[in-house]
Amino acid sequence: MEYLDFAVELARAAGDVLKHYMRSEKHVELKGQANLVTAADKEAEALIISSIRKRYPDHSILAEESGEVGPHEKGAGKWIIDPLDGTTNFAHQYPFFSVSIGYEEAGQVLCGAVYDPWRDEMFSGARGAGSFMNGERLRVSDAELLRSALIMTGFPYGFRDKIRTVMAQFEAFLVESQAVRRGGSAALDMCYTALGRVDGFWEMDLLPWDTAAGLVIVEEAGGRVTDFSGQPFSIYGRQLLVSNGRIHSEMVEVLRRVV
Ligand code: IPD
Ligand code: CA
Ligand code: CA
Repeated sequence: MEYLDFAVELARAAGDVLKHYMRSEKHVELKGQANLVTAADKEAEALIISSIRKRYPDHSILAEESGEVGPHEKGAGKWIIDPLDGTTNFAHQYPFFSVSIGYEEAGQVLCGAVYDPWRDEMFSGARGAGSFMNGERLRVSDAELLRSALIMTGFPYGFRDKIRTVMAQFEAFLVESQAVRRGGSAALDMCYTALGRVDGFWEMDLLPWDTAAGLVIVEEAGGRVTDFSGQPFSIYGRQLLVSNGRIHSEMVEVLRRVV
């Protein structure tokens, strides 16, 4: 698929920018107490946007650092971009971060690429065509029970205002699952579920650029993606629950008890 190939190409190019900056001075700016942005976020995003504008001038773009860009023509494609998902990790040289690029048409994400430049792992997926990591087909895990599952989570930037809910969810999953990990890149957390490295992932208050590409990748790997109550997920919504499908209802039940 043309758009998927382009997303992969862009993610790799932006990943090279991140790798270059990873070894050098970061020049971190604060968008909030714990919300960082670096020169690498900006340069990687500028590269992605200018390439899309050149190739598809009638498409629109939604990018984390630049917001909405482009002609917003009805029916035209929309690229949804996080040039660096995991900025806090990146700024501390903790090697778990990614570039995430999704492509949407008529409100549906059709394909996407998530690239981890540190491990050189390229995740990609397109509706009806499966999802892959470096060319190998992805399939979610076959864990049947939450108590034998390894799951991931993340904490939203505004967690201080909802610390009780965040900690209640964390506590409940810590007790009910085998173990919980906090990765620091929601896009990669979704891809790790698609790959079967983990069995599930939940987080609140993510934004469209965190989840657009990961959504196709995990669904095409046979995973399930909903909101916390098991209802259909939207990248413009506030709750994300991802799993291998088998442990989904148990995860919904845990969240129902604490939300
Ligand atoms: C963040 C990461 C993190 C998640 C945060 C996101 P950023 O994105 O995905 O894992 O917990 O909620 O905002 O700011 O590094 O692009
Ligand atoms: Ca992000
Ligand atoms: Ca980001």
